[in-house]
Amino acid sequence: MTSFDPRLVRHDIPLLERVINDHPITYLDSGATSLPPRAVIEAMSRYYELRHANVHRSVFQTASEATAAYEGARDATARFINAPGGAEEVVFTKNTTESFNLLAKSWGWANLHDGDVVLLSEMEHHANIVPWFQLREERGIDVRFIPVTDEFRLDLTNLDHLLNDVKLVSVTAMSNVLGTINPVKELAVAAHDVGALIAIDAAQSVAHGPTDVHDLDVDFVAFSGHKMLGPTGIGVFWTRELLLADMPPFLGGGGMIADVRLDGYTPASGPTRFEAGTPPIAEAVGLGAAIRYLDGLGMANVDKHEEELTRDALHRLEEQFAGRVRVIGPNNVTDRGAVISLDVEGVHAHDVAQVLDQFGVCVRPGHHCAKPLMRRFDLVATVRVSYGPYSLVQDTDVLLEALEHAIKMFG
Ligand code: ALA
Repeated sequence: MTSFDPRLVRHDIPLLERVINDHPITYLDSGATSLPPRAVIEAMSRYYELRHANVHRSVFQTASEATAAYEGARDATARFINAPGGAEEVVFTKNTTESFNLLAKSWGWANLHDGDVVLLSEMEHHANIVPWFQLREERGIDVRFIPVTDEFRLDLTNLDHLLNDVKLVSVTAMSNVLGTINPVKELAVAAHDVGALIAIDAAQSVAHGPTDVHDLDVDFVAFSGHKMLGPTGIGVFWTRELLLADMPPFLGGGGMIADVRLDGYTPASGPTRFEAGTPPIAEAVGLGAAIRYLDGLGMANVDKHEEELTRDALHRLEEQFAGRVRVIGPNNVTDRGAVISLDVEGVHAHDVAQVLDQFGVCVRPGHHCAKPLMRRFDLVATVRVSYGPYSLVQDTDVLLEALEHAIKMFG
């Protein structure tokens, strides 16, 4: 049973009670990091107050409870994304970036060789570009990019040609700059048809709608807890059990071994093989609480709410600011999420963001760690507005009023 009322969600978020520069906060930066509800903060506090102990090591009561909470979060994550093999397929990392490094430095090292191609897209976050460039330097692989059209979509017209010699397709499910939602299922079929695997960056998409890795038929998924109402410091790497079983460990140390002798070591099996050292226990507990909270809202409801907010914002931006503000992303809600990048005519994104801050409006100015995409559209920076389940149309009202002031001030 799910119930969704964004006003009630707002009441659950302590940070939304803040007043910034004499204005109630208008938080429109959920694409950078989302705001945790009390349920997440309290779950983490309860862990520190009542169960703080290391996991997978001791047998005393609180240690058993800590291990159960940590592994419970893994179970919850597996259910949330419909992992066919369950919790055994879920590795906890630090964030999406670390998940991509794990993919490149473990699976990539073991499986990619001179001349193999990794196919990315021009709209990738640096987290899904730099690890492949590093592997290119180390292993001689090639990195190729699916271009982006003038309409801010992947240009798949030459996909057959682009897929030559490709061993891995790695693309974002939803662009953190454009908001574009990519045709992951179609890409998965195309990749598998040429014997390649497919990875998706779900950092943005996982918080905005249902994620079903089984239905998408993808092979690797990366996302972060803090973009889905959870804490910072925890990310997820998912892959199929059979692929995970063949991946060599990435970091060595305690917790990731079955045995260590003077002549060598045997790695543990399963996800803990990739979780060397004391893991982010409180953060996993927080992620588990965030997932329970999102399950309570229903991801389909979150999706619908954010689509309505986006439709309204795109319509009003066009009505009020045509010729003065350009939306860098699809101008309708077909296959696009609640991230809206703006190019304000004649005003630098940082200047706009600074004026918006005077009205308590939080947005992100900059290149959004997607410099190749910025270059594609001859931009240095955009002002990015991004919504969460707690956002309301009233947030857009405040944004548009503040934007009018910013343009007048610099115009
Ligand atoms: N990757 C995050 C963003 O897009 C930080 O803002």
